[in-house]
Amino acid sequence: MRLFVALEVPEPQRLEVTRRRRVLEGALPPASWVRQENLHLTLVFLGEVNDRERSRLDQVLPEAFAAFPPQPLALAGGGTFPPSRPARVAWVGLEHGPRLPAMRERVRALAQEAAARPLDDRPFHPHLTVARCRRPWGRSAAESFAAGFAGPVGEPFVAAEGLLLASRLGPGGPRYRVEGRFALTGSAGEVPAVPAGLSRGEGP
Ligand code: 2AM
Repeated sequence: MRLFVALEVPEPQRLEVTRRRRVLEGALPPASWVRQENLHLTLVFLGEVNDRERSRLDQVLPEAFAAFPPQPLALAGGGTFPPSRPARVAWVGLEHGPRLPAMRERVRALAQEAAARPLDDRPFHPHLTVARCRRPWGRSAAESFAAGFAGPVGEPFVAAEGLLLASRLGPGGPRYRVEGRFALTGSAGEVPAVPAGLSRGEGP
């Protein structure tokens, strides 16, 4: 089973992303656009996981998330990856509270133990992948995309649970199925209320 851990983006914000990209896509080079229902914030990608790894994940993920409070998030700005080079991925940025990187790192470390193999340890750049470019886009396409997502994209929101998602690849793109939901029940401590204290995500 191909698994990853993510935070859900509420429907109104996913709708707003899709509305904006529909305005842009006719004028941009070909890309695989992420379907509205598939837009999410990936925390940790696990890839193929066997039954033993899966049962260990089921043990550690509830505690990993329960230690953290609900996370204030806001979609804002767009960009492309890799920076300053022909674009392979177009993304929408995420502003987040101070605890998101620590939560992601805790989930990554425990998932890595459960999987008993190294997982992606590149720096965490919270983003929503919106498109995968069929051929790398040039600068003007990248700039048009970024201009279409400038500023806040929908209202700020609060993610109150982590998700374990299974991804099945198919001809029409991946299909995701929720395999587990894990409540964020930690106390908020000094975490400020939405939207104060959000920090700017920088994309991948
Ligand atoms: P992305 O949004 O940055 O592309 C499910 O495939 C999710 O896992 C995707 O959203 C993708 O993140 C993420 N992911 C990270 N590493 C991956 C990999 N090696 N293969 C496929 N997906 C990966």
